[in-house]
Formats: sequence, structure tokens, C-alpha cells
Amino acid sequence: MSSSSLQVVMLLLALFSLSALVAASAGNFGQDFDITWGNDHVKMLDGGRFLTLSLDNTSGSAFQSKNEYLFGRIDMQIKLVSGNSAGTVTTYYLSSQGPNHDEIDFEFLGNLSGDPYIVHTNVFTHGEGNREQQFYLWFDPTKAFHTYSFIWNSQVIMFLVDNIPIRVFNNLKSLGVPFPNSQPMRIYSSLWNADDWATRGGLVKTDWTKAPFIASYRNFEANACVWSSGSSSCVYNSNSLQTNTWQDQALDATGRRRIRWVQKKYMIYNYCTDLKRFPQGLPPECERSKLH
Ligand SMILES: *[C@@H]1O[C@H](CO)[C@@H](O)[C@H](O)[C@H]1NC(C)=O
Ligand SMILES: *[C@@H]1O[C@H](CO)[C@@H](O)[C@H](O)[C@H]1NC(C)=O
Repeated sequence: MSSSSLQVVMLLLALFSLSALVAASAGNFGQDFDITWGNDHVKMLDGGRFLTLSLDNTSGSAFQSKNEYLFGRIDMQIKLVSGNSAGTVTTYYLSSQGPNHDEIDFEFLGNLSGDPYIVHTNVFTHGEGNREQQFYLWFDPTKAFHTYSFIWNSQVIMFLVDNIPIRVFNNLKSLGVPFPNSQPMRIYSSLWNADDWATRGGLVKTDWTKAPFIASYRNFEANACVWSSGSSSCVYNSNSLQTNTWQDQALDATGRRRIRWVQKKYMIYNYCTDLKRFPQGLPPECERSKLH
């Protein structure tokens, strides 16, 4: 064997063991989630490592995590509905239960072929939402998988897209802004028809001749604290330093630069600048310096 082919073999071996590591650390949809809507519209492949939700004129579909979590970093790779996805909404969020629930939302609002998706985000604390921020993306989210993540610790909630922070919600309890830090949350995702509001405010309707609409999921990972009978225990699935620093993660200089770039170029709605909506004054967390 020549030394160059030996190198190739060694490289392949290294790659193989790396991918085995990654595969072993990723969650399993069959083990970690329950299907809660449209059973026959959900497919699991590759031993539960890959999942698709579908929507047609008979049903949409949804799943939720078996575990409840109190703080963590949740990563999911999603490939959104391609082609004409107008009227469809793919949700991916964390939520607790009950009337004063907490919720951290990603919602992906579909569009006509070639027109941009909207990433809609919101944060509910103790039952109160009204904190919408919306973004376009800097890539076509239907062509490939991209990673959408939540970091949630006692000080901050961060929304990340391909590890780039797009939104931060700080713990400002000292200013009287409630922060989700006591109610455990499940992970939820669904694909449904919302053509009464989703695309251009409801002007563009779902074209059912294009059904089924399909969103794909893979490489779910929860490096998070699992809540069980009143206490939590933290699980680290990933060997990556990057995903294991979530407990005390805050925006560093790089994060601050990136979030400014995203918010400047891609943010299309921010409740914090919507003076018409809050004639009595903007919510206390909206002061510029408190955002990030
Ligand atoms: C749903 O779509 C199928 C296929 O396009 C069509 O045959 C059927 O009539 C539709 N059903 C309803 C309730 O619209
Ligand atoms: C859809 O495309 C239109 C036209 O570019 C744009 O105004 C809108 O924000 C896009 N997204 C949604 C979800 O309506």
C-alpha cells in the first residue's frame, strides 16, 4: 500500500469514528418523542434518527418530547417545506403547561416558491406573550438542513440559527419582568395550515394541489436538565464543548457582533420598536441596552 492510500484509509477511519460518535450522541425520535397529531402523517426513518411531518387537506401532524426540561440547550436540524409552502406553518417550541405557562417559540411561516420564509419568534412568561420578533433568513431553509437551537439558563434565553444568535431574552426579574425559571417545559413541533394569517397576513392561501407538504427533522439533541418528580438531572449528550457551555452562556463579543448583523440585515418586526402597539410605553425589557 502506498503511503498516500494509507493516508486515505486513515482519514476514512477517522471520519468513520467521528460520525459514529455524532450518531451515538444524537437523540432518537422514537425514544424521545410522542406523536400527538396525525399519526399517519408522521414518518420515522433510519431507526428513529430522522423524522418527517406532513400536512395535506385531511390533517397536519405534530410531536412532543416525552421529557420535560428545566434549562438546557436544545438543537434540532430542520429542513422546511419546499416549493409553494404558502399558508403552512412549521412550529418548534418549548412550553410548560397550565394557565401561567412559559413558552419559547420558533415558528416558520411558509411562502410562495422563491419568496422568503419568515422566522417568527416569541417569549411567553407566566402566560404573557406579546414579544414577537420576526426575521428573514440568510439562506433558503428548504434546500438543506439547518440547526435551530434554544439556549435556556437561569440568566438568559437565546435563539440560534446555525449557532448564530438571532434573539436574546435576558433575565430582568430585578426590573419586574418575569423570567421562565421554575416551570419545566417540553419540546413541541408541528406542521399545520394557518392560511388565515401566515403568509402576507393571510392574503396568500394554501394551494392544496401541492400537498403533501413535508418538513424533515434530524439530529435532535438535548443537552439539558430533565425534570422528574420535582427535581432535575442534567444530561450531556454531546462531546462538543460548544454545546456544553450552555449553563453560564451569555453573549460574548462575537455573539454580540453576530446578533447585531442579523438584527440589522434580517429583522423585519420587533415589538420593542412598535410604539403604536404600546402607547403607554414600551415593555421594560425593551430598552436598547437591556436587549443584549
Ligand atoms: C383533498 O385532496 C384530494 C387530492 O387532491 C382530493 O381528491 C380531495 O377531494 C380533497 N378533499 C377535500 C376534503 O378537500
Ligand atoms: C412572503 O413573500 C412576500 C413578498 O416577498 C413578503 O412580503 C413576505 O414577508 C414573505 N413571507 C411571508 C411569510 O409572508
